[in-house]
Amino acid sequence: MTAPEHAEAFSDTADAYEATMAPALRPVAEEVVRRAALRPSEIILDAGTGTGNALVLAAGEGRRLIGVDVAPGMLELARAKAPEARLIEADFAAVPLSDASVDVVIAVHALLFADDPVAALVEWRRLVAVGGRLSISVPGPGEVVPNAILGPVFDRYGVPWDLDYPRRETLAAWAARASWADIEVDANPTMFIPLRDGEHFRTWLRVRGRGRATADWSAERRDRFATELMEASPRGPDGGYRLPFGALFLTARRS
Ligand SMILES: C[S@@+](CC[C@H](N)C(=O)[O-])C[C@H]1O[C@@H](n2cnc3c(N)ncnc32)[C@H](O)[C@@H]1O
Repeated sequence: MTAPEHAEAFSDTADAYEATMAPALRPVAEEVVRRAALRPSEIILDAGTGTGNALVLAAGEGRRLIGVDVAPGMLELARAKAPEARLIEADFAAVPLSDASVDVVIAVHALLFADDPVAALVEWRRLVAVGGRLSISVPGPGEVVPNAILGPVFDRYGVPWDLDYPRRETLAAWAARASWADIEVDANPTMFIPLRDGEHFRTWLRVRGRGRATADWSAERRDRFATELMEASPRGPDGGYRLPFGALFLTARRS
């Protein structure tokens, strides 16, 4: 998908995203911000800020916050959560800011939406001053994402899916190709998307692709699809659904 297509898909489903994915990604955002080791008064850019999860966590101690996202519907929700932040509607691979204008770039589960992840990492390096830092996350590797367990159901219904998620080495190699220094990558394969009940699960299904893939189906077919996905999903001790959603964390520095 291209950046304008992501803009439309995320804007269309921003409310469903805020109800399901944003809380699921909060622990990931906390880890990204923790690894960024933010200092007072720094200028922080959150690339693919979405509804502003990481901006809220980065606030304080006189820091200046900038959120960039291509989807206006997502930025509208971010505006309410982080009113002090400057929000820019733009492609994060072509940010309308000058060279070396921020101290830290953070990005929570955004890089994988880039047409070219190395080009996005080059752009983020352009934006940070010498000595500036990068702290990002991406979902993966493929065996710990929802598609790994839901794939057979997608296949039965002809819904496209893939497992094109990076491994640690791939992510590190992208950052090296973008000339970042002091690159470190860690993995947490135990993270998951909690969906408390069937209604929450159906709301999650509306986020981006699945909602569109099923838009012209009959209500019965959509219902059967959702039921089969729920049946294939692992459950937690509280009875809620727990979809595996491992995360890779990368930190680096501009030398
Ligand atoms: C999975 S969401 C993550 C949002 C947020 N970081 C969070 O933690 O909830 C990915 C975000 O990246 C944005 N995005 C996708 N492609 C983009 C691009 N080329 N430029 C800017 N934002 C983009 C989407 O609009 C969406 O808000």
